[in-house]
Amino acid sequence: MATSNTIVWQDAEVTATTEIADRIRRITLRPDNPQQVRPGEHLKVMVDINGEEAVRSYSIVDATPDGSELSLSVFHTPHSRGGSTYMHTRDVGTWLRIAGPLQDFPMRVGAPDYVLVAGGIGITAIRGMASLLRRLGANYVIHYSARSPEAMAYREELAAEHGEKLHTYFDSEGTLLDIPAIINSATPDTELYMCGPIRLMDAIRRTWQASQLDPTNLRFETFGNSGWFTPEQFSVSIPRLGVSTEIGQNESILEALEKLGVEMMSDCRRGECGLCQVNVLHTEGQIDHRDVFFSDKQKTASTKLCACVSRVASPEASPPGRSVQLTIDVP
Ligand code: FES
Repeated sequence: MATSNTIVWQDAEVTATTEIADRIRRITLRPDNPQQVRPGEHLKVMVDINGEEAVRSYSIVDATPDGSELSLSVFHTPHSRGGSTYMHTRDVGTWLRIAGPLQDFPMRVGAPDYVLVAGGIGITAIRGMASLLRRLGANYVIHYSARSPEAMAYREELAAEHGEKLHTYFDSEGTLLDIPAIINSATPDTELYMCGPIRLMDAIRRTWQASQLDPTNLRFETFGNSGWFTPEQFSVSIPRLGVSTEIGQNESILEALEKLGVEMMSDCRRGECGLCQVNVLHTEGQIDHRDVFFSDKQKTASTKLCACVSRVASPEASPPGRSVQLTIDVP
């Protein structure tokens, strides 16, 4: 789902920060070279992780009409790869290196009806779309789930803006999204836009694929940071190149191999384009596919993985303290 974007870096000052929900911080920026922001756009932000530069992507949740002030909302993940910790420690008056606004999640205007689905911090990619649809007088509905009311960012603002078009669900209250019901209510021309944890998006993708609905009417944004297993350290080796390294809990295979000088292809770095795919030769662990590029069949076969997001989890019976091994080859 990636579209072409030219990456031009610029500086942006942090002008406000607010804790808007449990572990979610809203960060407002004033970029040196403002540009108008369209729904679905994101920023790339250069973050510092243990003294090393890395790039993270964050959806722009809202902006002034000329883009001179724009806001992100960043969830401090329990198993942060370092980016969200960095973002949660930027104070007003500090400067960030940013690129964008960049568009990988365009919304098509003119569909007869829309379903928007957000899980947790995924609301950042969906909120601007919902606002635009309201302004256009479009027929739409928003399904938004979170761990608890306290963990739901922009809950009151969304309720005030969208009224009964907003449906909320909370794990803490046992009110869960009914995915089959949502998809059964879609017409052949309904467009569904979603952003959230990989489990939620996988479940929606499977149900959508099993229906008669047009696959191109299902659109999604993922920043590739949630998986089926808790991230753990593991070992990667490439016998052909004589390379082996440990992958820390907070880094990706792609980042670790790049640091060693292995030539890797990549583009989106969030599990969408498939450019970073590597061949899996062996593992005694279970591959935690965190991409939305490979099909379910390919994920089950596990002969390849996306090195930018996917990981390996230990088998349940493995002895504590030993890193599970993954043997790969690169194209
Ligand atoms: S770089 Fe795009 S899927 Fe990994």
